[in-house]
Amino acid sequence: MSSSCAPTKEIADKSGAQLWAENCQRCHNTPSPATFSPEQWETVGMHMQTRSLITDQERKKIVAFLKGTR
Ligand code: HEC
Repeated sequence: MSSSCAPTKEIADKSGAQLWAENCQRCHNTPSPATFSPEQWETVGMHMQTRSLITDQERKKIVAFLKGTR
């Protein structure tokens, strides 16, 4: 099914690591994935989503990357 409402391919193609590098270093040096526990990254993701104006999809990818790399 092809839908014009599907997420843009550019976003869908980007990895969590790439989105993190592009969106999370504008304001501060990004803490490394090992800095916080998976639960803490969920909370940080919510806070920083409002600051960095990323989409839910982008936040989920970034948080998944941050949780998975330890
Ligand atoms: C528009 C600026 C901005 C962007 C973009 C941004 N941050 Fe932040 N971030 C801040 C500010 C300001 C603080 C310190 C104040 C606070 O904790 O709210 C902070 C604090 C943090 C902290 C420390 C929290 C703590 O409890 O010590 C983490 C971790 C963090 N940001 C991660 C991220 C991640 C991951 C992204 C990308 C999704 C991101 N930030 C994008 C402005 C930003």
